[in-house]
Amino acid sequence: MISLREQIDESLKYIRKHTKMMPEIGIILGTGLGGLVKEIRKEIVLDYDEIPHFPISTVESHHGKLIFGTLAGKKVVAMQGRFHYYEGYSLQQVTFPVRVMSRRFGLGVKTLLISNAAGGMNPQFHRGDLMLITDHINLQGTNPLIGPNDDDFGPRFPDMSEPYSKKLIKLAEKIAAEAKIKVQRGVFVAVQGPNLETRAEYRFLHNIGADAVGMSTVPENIVAVHMGMNVLGISIITDECFPDTLKPVSVDEIISVANKAEPKLTKIMKEIVKQL
Ligand code: HPA
Repeated sequence: MISLREQIDESLKYIRKHTKMMPEIGIILGTGLGGLVKEIRKEIVLDYDEIPHFPISTVESHHGKLIFGTLAGKKVVAMQGRFHYYEGYSLQQVTFPVRVMSRRFGLGVKTLLISNAAGGMNPQFHRGDLMLITDHINLQGTNPLIGPNDDDFGPRFPDMSEPYSKKLIKLAEKIAAEAKIKVQRGVFVAVQGPNLETRAEYRFLHNIGADAVGMSTVPENIVAVHMGMNVLGISIITDECFPDTLKPVSVDEIISVANKAEPKLTKIMKEIVKQL
């Protein structure tokens, strides 16, 4: 089996046949959050399944495209469609595109913007709110860094005292205030899924210090931190997960709330890219 480094090299070689672009900003678009894609002036779009070693998306609502272009005048690379642990991929596979994006032996990305759909457990939160992720808890029961460490990528034991850049959080808050968009701040907990949580689980997750829960983002964040990137994470709160008043929720409702809130997120993301 070839090493992770060799796999990245082969992916890059293929990408480099199509574009020489060196984007400094990477974007991962979560469930129902594809609207930003329309704002990107596209240079080239590659399907995941044509890029060597890229996992292939199994979820139909995720398109699986790597988009190179400019957003607000800046060069960006965006993942339309991401991979989840619950789909059966290893976390190494889930985070492979982040390694390819990175400036260390990758495309040159220094700043990674991640979005997701999440369940809100903080009673101050409402459906459709945006939450800037200030910190996270990894409850996926595994870690993308398990296995041999390539010291050229990053340290064996990466520091996690600031997994989400304080500077980027401040910038996002300033931009949101100017645009009169309400944003919450909070701790995100990642679970395996694919089922949503029981009342007892929501109670537990809130009690251990999480404000929102989802099935993504944390693995990508860990690998981005490992590679020395600055990360901003924004959740759209798609359902209210208050144990005492919990109502059934369907994935269609979750996607519909995400779609409704998405223009707010797109506006903030675009302005952040502009001001970076
Ligand atoms: N739990 C886990 N993931 C989610 C949820 C949830 O309640 N809502 C949106 N993504």
